[in-house]
Amino acid sequence: MPLAKQDLVGHFTERFGQAPAIVVRAPGRVNLIGEHTDYNDGFVLPLAIDRAAWIALRPRRDCRVNVYSVDYQEVREFDIAKLKHEKAGWIEYLKGVAWCLQDAGMQLHGWEGVLAGDVPLGAGLSSSAALEMATARAFAAVSDIAWDAVAQAKLGQRSENQWIGVNCGIMDQLISATGRAGHAMLIDCRSLELQPAPLPKGVAVVVLDTATRRGLVDSAYNERRSQCEAAAAFFQVRALRDVSVAMFEAMDGQLQATTRRRARHVISEDERTVQAVEAMRRGDIATLGQLMNESHVSLRDDYEVSSDALNAMVEAAQAHKACYGARMTGAGFGGCAVAIVKADEADDFVAATSRAYQARTGNQPAVYVCTATDGAAMV
Ligand code: GLA
Repeated sequence: MPLAKQDLVGHFTERFGQAPAIVVRAPGRVNLIGEHTDYNDGFVLPLAIDRAAWIALRPRRDCRVNVYSVDYQEVREFDIAKLKHEKAGWIEYLKGVAWCLQDAGMQLHGWEGVLAGDVPLGAGLSSSAALEMATARAFAAVSDIAWDAVAQAKLGQRSENQWIGVNCGIMDQLISATGRAGHAMLIDCRSLELQPAPLPKGVAVVVLDTATRRGLVDSAYNERRSQCEAAAAFFQVRALRDVSVAMFEAMDGQLQATTRRRARHVISEDERTVQAVEAMRRGDIATLGQLMNESHVSLRDDYEVSSDALNAMVEAAQAHKACYGARMTGAGFGGCAVAIVKADEADDFVAATSRAYQARTGNQPAVYVCTATDGAAMV
């Protein structure tokens, strides 16, 4: 069972002897298609899921933030007027957001509370973005700042880039801030235009956690980003978003082999993502699934960010008769895959795919149907 508001109220009441003034929730996400396209100004199609970071809190009169983490069973605190980096840890995510909001001219108040989450860490479901957006929502609530979801997502991304030091794109924070129940969101990562697309009836979205966690992902991620920038420079455009498949095919022979494969992934993935949302809108689930399968092949062979465990999971999922399509999701190298399946056969899909994956790899996976939820909010 996903965490619920009463769990947070219970934790807060136990510590503070009274009910919290505010409870906020910000979800993790799963991306249906459009992988490694966000930092190329391209298109993504994620949904916010029923796994989230939650904070129950009350305002303080001073500048301190004091938080008990239910998951880590420890209290950490900081002064928003004297922010400084310390060794890595969950509290750094909260400090980073405080730093960004203040740097953007916002006047913040202190608060105290409890934090809990059920987005698995390092699984490619954006637990960091969920924590950042929950923190932003908490500060906005106690500091009387009007909630502008897109602006707050950009600040969340900035804190991840500059305080945490991870060079991510905008997708994770933006979907955590703007998700809509029952919908996936087509995001244009250049204009930040959002187009909600209803999830088709009779279709379940399944998260398939390989129970492997990525190593060295940051350096591989940054390397992919540089390769994309090199390809964009070759085509003399601002980002690979500006290169059409036709433009690419006319000139790709002149690119160095690895750069060429990286660019081919991004350019074809943008096209698949736009086609996928069109297919979803006309109820053509077979085509949506096919595009997801093609996305996986492209990520595996051209972008080289999959792993043996992810490939085994995707193959196990695709082999089930209820599966329309499956692919790795998130940055890659471990973590989760995503599948869309016939809803009335989802239970059998979950059981059979888990068994097949475990038999093949020896890892015990976590496979579950997820629902699309609203983005960061006071609840
Ligand atoms: C991570 C990053 C995102 C995006 C994905 C890959 O989740 O945080 O910005 O680049 O990888 O699509």
